[in-house]
Amino acid sequence: MSEADNSNPGQILLNTIGCKETIKDANERLIALLNAAVDGLIIIDKKGNIELFNSAAQKMFMYSSQEVLGKNIKMLMPAPFSREHDSYLSSYLSSGQPKIIGKGRKVKGKKSNGDEFPIFLSVGEVKDSSHTQFVGIIRDISEQEQDRIEAQENRNRLSHASRLSSMGELAAGIAHEMNQPLTAISSYAQASKRLLQSTSENNIEKVAAALDKICDQAIRASDVIDRLRNFVKKRVAQREYVELNVLIIKTVNLAKVDTRILDHKVILELEQVKKPKLLVDPVQIQQVLLNLIRNGIDSMEHIKGAPLIIKSQWISNELIEVSVKDCGLGMDAQTSGSIFSPFFTTKQSGMGMGLSVSQTIIHSHGGRIYFDTNQPSGCIFSFNLPATAINHEDIEK
Ligand SMILES: Nc1ncnc2c1ncn2[C@@H]1O[C@H](COP(=O)(O)OP(=O)(O)OP(=O)(O)O)[C@@H](O)[C@H]1O
Ligand SMILES: [Mg+2]
Repeated sequence: MSEADNSNPGQILLNTIGCKETIKDANERLIALLNAAVDGLIIIDKKGNIELFNSAAQKMFMYSSQEVLGKNIKMLMPAPFSREHDSYLSSYLSSGQPKIIGKGRKVKGKKSNGDEFPIFLSVGEVKDSSHTQFVGIIRDISEQEQDRIEAQENRNRLSHASRLSSMGELAAGIAHEMNQPLTAISSYAQASKRLLQSTSENNIEKVAAALDKICDQAIRASDVIDRLRNFVKKRVAQREYVELNVLIIKTVNLAKVDTRILDHKVILELEQVKKPKLLVDPVQIQQVLLNLIRNGIDSMEHIKGAPLIIKSQWISNELIEVSVKDCGLGMDAQTSGSIFSPFFTTKQSGMGMGLSVSQTIIHSHGGRIYFDTNQPSGCIFSFNLPATAINHEDIEK
């Protein structure tokens, strides 16, 4: 057994580095080692007074050790940490319950010029019978934080860019939506002009009715524009509670001015027992329903008077389904595989955006959109949405 093996642990350390050192030499060597560390090292006593401040800490905080030794560690912290530090220390010393000791956490340091910077601080306790000290190991994480902030900004930029690219898709959808109220406004305006030129007596009432319809269509057009504005401003569209049946009736009335629908009968089979209430963007849901109604009517253009059936029904306690059933031409397998793709259309004047935009809208409301074949002919397009039943208080309001 070597001489070192019989000695105390401190002696072993000194002997293993191969030279017999005095306590003073060992102390100097320890200080040199601490100063060589890349991380900041600060030792404080139990009152928070600084006893050791290594070179890395000096660089980080821009203080020499003479400027900080014997002073309270609070001087290296910005508020509120500086205010709270004394009470952290005394509560730990009296309760033994650590908040940060033995763990690490991200906090802020304060340089001699007052600049704050992010640090990762881990604290350990050094205790013997006469003395308690705390050692703080500090890493300057300014660069990592900067990287994190930049990565976050990049993510935000990307998500805005992807919103803008889906805006291209949305813009096409908006153009699609705007066409209908504008055509309606123009035909009501022409009708009013004709009425005013004729000499018949009750024309004033008819003109007033046409002007009301022009107003309804103009409001709808401006709602669509508002939604686009909200989307571009990176704001989430405001959702509100709406009665589904009321929304369906309003939408059918809007659709009726579409000349395509005039030859067809719309039959409503709406849930009446537990009337459904939805938390939705009503303009968007109207947009979906209008698309389904127009598609159904388009598929029946060759059958004058053929009915379109719109139905709402609960498919579970929380899901309401709206379906639009036509008895038109239906779809072949190839068509039905592509209908939700943007710009897919089999119509001469179609944009192929209706179902793709509708799918985006229904998914963003937590629902699904799907279709089935109708018997003996035609299609049933449906969507479901989370809903609740209207209760008495809703009706009293
Ligand atoms: N009820 C339906 N019956 C038969 N085919 C349908 C029906 N609904 C949709 N389709 C088919 O799906 C295609 C895509 O529909 P979508 O609504 O996305 O676009 P579109 O109606 O062609 O054009 P628009 O952008 O003007 O709505 C239609 O072109 C049609 O071929
Ligand atoms: Mg369509």
